[in-house]
Amino acid sequence: MPVRFGIVGCGKVAERLALPQLNGCAQARVTALVDTKREAARRLAEQFGIDRRLVWTDWRRMLREAEVDAVAVCVPNFLHYEVTLGCCRAKKHVMVEKPIARTLQEADGMIDAARRAGVRLMVEQTQRFDPAHEVAKALLDSGRLGRIHTLRGRLGHAGPEYWSRTSPWYTRRAQSGGGALMDLGIHLVDLLLWLSGKSVKRLCASAATIEKRVPVEDTASLLMEFTDGTLGSCEVSWTTRVYEVMTWFQGERGKLTTANDRAHPVSVQWARTTGDPNKPRGAEVYPEVPRASRWGGAYAQFVDSVLHARPPGVSGEDGRRALEVVTAAYRSIQERCWVELPLAR
Ligand SMILES: NC(=O)c1ccc[n+]([C@@H]2O[C@H](COP(=O)([O-])OP(=O)(O)OC[C@H]3O[C@@H](n4cnc5c(N)ncnc54)[C@H](O)[C@@H]3O)[C@@H](O)[C@H]2O)c1
Repeated sequence: MPVRFGIVGCGKVAERLALPQLNGCAQARVTALVDTKREAARRLAEQFGIDRRLVWTDWRRMLREAEVDAVAVCVPNFLHYEVTLGCCRAKKHVMVEKPIARTLQEADGMIDAARRAGVRLMVEQTQRFDPAHEVAKALLDSGRLGRIHTLRGRLGHAGPEYWSRTSPWYTRRAQSGGGALMDLGIHLVDLLLWLSGKSVKRLCASAATIEKRVPVEDTASLLMEFTDGTLGSCEVSWTTRVYEVMTWFQGERGKLTTANDRAHPVSVQWARTTGDPNKPRGAEVYPEVPRASRWGGAYAQFVDSVLHARPPGVSGEDGRRALEVVTAAYRSIQERCWVELPLAR
């Protein structure tokens, strides 16, 4: 029996990620589409071959009337908390888009509601399901690079107006929770924490609005110290003309890099220990990267976790962990100082 999904919010992420993945997953079926703009839901119903009668404009009513086991929460960030709580009360499993929420208090409420209701809560942190990142994770977990000393990351694109032209909420702090740091930083921080398996001890951040005429930052950078002494840094921007996502891990026995725009999205440079900087450097190898995620994407992994009672690929706690780093970064920017983690609850 397939998992029956309701999708709340029929905007860009529903069109580009949730619906293509759920439609392509044999064990899932979309049985409800909800958007306050009926036309948006109808348009996606038509595009994805879903019965027009399965359209609602009120998510609470959909929860009462539709036959759904799980809900994909694809509304703007300020609605994640409210919709997730409603779904948990109705005993529906929840896949919530990133960031889990705007604040740690909201995230805590969502994690608690899912636990009490006995439903699965997963956060859609897309980057973990990029095949290059899956390959990098296996390599880093193998321990072959030895201890990781430093790590870095960069994630950028041209800005939310190029993704969803009709969505002003991205640059309204009260609705989004922040600018590029909240929108892209949450992806990059989650990716670096997951790949490295490390926890941030303290951080220092800066942000600027370099190019866009918006009241939030379009660029931000972070310096991080990890609990095991590793040092790290990362940068996000909405002013990057061609989408890019890159990570670097410098270890005892070599360096691993991932980059979306290269012929080889993952490369490992094994170190030579001759000590002579003029000698050729260690061999560079390019692990094979499959064309698709081994799960078929985040939504497919969530379906698997619901069907087989397995842990979701990105738990609510994982989503909270990335949000805590981003929240600490905003505090650092505001108070112009280093901020220690964990933040007080
Ligand atoms: N995983 C990713 O890579 C990724 C990428 C982009 C966006 N996102 C996240 O997905 C979420 C949605 O982003 P988007 O770009 O699709 O935004 P969007 O503005 O394109 O779509 C949001 C939709 O929600 C609808 N909506 C608003 N209030 C509603 C309500 N009360 N009930 C039902 N529908 C309502 C809007 O009418 C709109 O159609 C955000 O949390 C965003 O951060 C994730």
